[in-house]
Amino acid sequence: MDAILVTGGGEINGKIPIAGAKNACLTLMPATLLSEEPLTLTNAPRLSDIKTMTTLLESLGSEVSTMQDGKVLTMSSNKLNNFTAAYDIVRKMRASILVLGPLLAREGQAVVSLPGGCAIGARPVDLHLMAMRALGAEIELHDGYIHAKATNGLTGANIDFPFVSVGATENALLAASLAKGTTILKNAAREPEIVDLVQCLISMGAKIEGEGTSSITIQGVDRLHGATHRVVTDRIELGTYMLAPAFTGGEIECLGGKIELLTAFCEKLDECGIIVEQTKTGIRVKRSDAGLKAINVKTEPFPGFPTDLQAQMMALLCTATGKSILEEKIFENRFMHAPELSRMGAKISVNGGTAIVLGVDRLKGAPVMATDLRASVSLILAGLAAEGETLINRVYHLDRGYERVEEKLQNCGAKIERIRGR
Ligand code: UD1
Repeated sequence: MDAILVTGGGEINGKIPIAGAKNACLTLMPATLLSEEPLTLTNAPRLSDIKTMTTLLESLGSEVSTMQDGKVLTMSSNKLNNFTAAYDIVRKMRASILVLGPLLAREGQAVVSLPGGCAIGARPVDLHLMAMRALGAEIELHDGYIHAKATNGLTGANIDFPFVSVGATENALLAASLAKGTTILKNAAREPEIVDLVQCLISMGAKIEGEGTSSITIQGVDRLHGATHRVVTDRIELGTYMLAPAFTGGEIECLGGKIELLTAFCEKLDECGIIVEQTKTGIRVKRSDAGLKAINVKTEPFPGFPTDLQAQMMALLCTATGKSILEEKIFENRFMHAPELSRMGAKISVNGGTAIVLGVDRLKGAPVMATDLRASVSLILAGLAAEGETLINRVYHLDRGYERVEEKLQNCGAKIERIRGR
């Protein structure tokens, strides 16, 4: 297992290209299952999660080819020969559940292992199942698998989600695109990745309105055709690198970044004393001379502050002046980075879904453990600002979601290296 060694202290300066969104790509790829014609995605990120989704699609009978070093993916699902998403693949990545809707819609059957993924709470799939049942699927759970059937095809329905789920909204969109009749999704997720999925489905011939709002209407069609679609910018990678110069000093331009992807986050940066400027080519960020101020943060579905940036923000607030309160409203148990940051000298107390951070002058390097994807990168950022060396173990989580992180930071002057097979 690889580790990452970071030596703190220096400023970082330069430009960081932001990749296509992992979370968008993971919902766009299963859209290939809806059509016999090829779907091409450009601006795809080069990540292990994308490889896992590729393996899953290939196991179902899709052909996936890559160009431009993995940035362009062409998927062809002319004939599917398997309807089971096996445990060995699904356990690596929770987003594997997103093949459920397309398989049901196209083939009238699907068997999908119950997912694993990041250890950030119970993360059930009941809303996905609720949506599929509403569209007419019969579902049974046994042997750790979801067994779903829609012998006479899926039928449009009104689906009112009891709370917002990105994945369940995506599965419902994918399935309803080929269902008979009209589906209305209420309390749907509004994330940019949902808008991106809808735009791709529309270019494949789907009839969908209302994306980006909490009510989405899908008029089912008989068939979808091939398309080429550019994956939206990764707003979480963007937000992560926007924070980097706030930790270290210096100035970074995140190429391809747009403030509208991260409005609530940018408001919090402003409150904290970080200067954010939209340029023609991206977003430029530096911290103000006054230093970092403590702030309160509450995670919420889009357009609120993203849960996927909570760990990175907490790491930053460890050295802000005053007391910050962070409330995690999306996932239970998503403060596993807190004890690791404490090993570096942070003063954090966690009580249920709330963490209180008392700013200290400086963090000190220490050996730490990456517990999930976003926690891993929060420890890298903390290490960049800390005194001495920080060794981050178990970085395989990082490779699921951050493309060439060492290279991107090294190019800006950061002292960071990967230690292979440690
Ligand atoms: C997606 C993102 C993830 C992000 C999250 C919230 C992908 C691949 N992952 O995850 O990075 O942190 O959105 O922005 O896009 N829930 C249920 N039952 C369900 C489904 C969800 O109770 O059937 C709960 C979850 O446990 C969680 C909340 O709903 O507490 C929101 O989860 P959801 O929006 O579904 O997250 P994901 O789609 O899994």
